[in-house]
Amino acid sequence: MSQAVLDFMHNRRSVLIKNMTAPGPDTSQLADILTIASRVPDHRKLEPWRFLVIQGDARARLGQVLAEVKGKQQALEPEQLLAEQQTFLRAPVVVAVVASPIEHKTPRTEQILSAGAVCQHINIAAAAHGFASQWVTGWTFENPEAEAALGLSEYEFIAGYLYIGSSEEQPSDRKRPDLTDKVTWLSD
Ligand SMILES: Cc1cc2nc3c(=O)[nH]c(=O)nc-3n(C[C@H](O)[C@H](O)[C@H](O)COP(=O)(O)O)c2cc1C
Repeated sequence: MSQAVLDFMHNRRSVLIKNMTAPGPDTSQLADILTIASRVPDHRKLEPWRFLVIQGDARARLGQVLAEVKGKQQALEPEQLLAEQQTFLRAPVVVAVVASPIEHKTPRTEQILSAGAVCQHINIAAAAHGFASQWVTGWTFENPEAEAALGLSEYEFIAGYLYIGSSEEQPSDRKRPDLTDKVTWLSD
């Protein structure tokens, strides 16, 4: 039993992107976070996910790419266009978790659940390294044009963007579920 791990899991919280600052994880910390992220349950070992690590100048470049896609899909005010261009600049590192389900005996939904587990492992590993993180999807979710612009195949989608940075303070907790509404205890 590890009380330290239990305490960590009881207290871990996401940090809103707007509250993130530099620094983000360095290359070796990021490699460790992605190694932990890859240690998720995965039915029949399909590894139905991959990562896009968006950092440095790539943040502005990909922000511009997505802003152009969004601008073709809907009219954007100048400040909305600027916000899209700068979306990845809000944190030092953004990891896009790409769900890559394939035709297989293992159902697609199971493969997608594994990709979701990858996202949460990133949240956990980032926090264990002392970083702030948040899992977001946003408007590009199941948006084929945005996915193509990011280099995804037609079978892939972004399970989540994991923004990773630093934060001064641990956020206060949010309301958590009442287990009496959630748990059916079956003993007999
Ligand atoms: C699949 C998924 C997608 C999400 N997408 C967004 C999003 O686009 N924007 C947002 O503000 N929060 C989004 N959230 C919620 C944030 O991550 C939120 O901060 C988080 O649920 C807080 O939980 P925690 O503090 O318990 O980790 C998403 C959560 C999940 C699981």
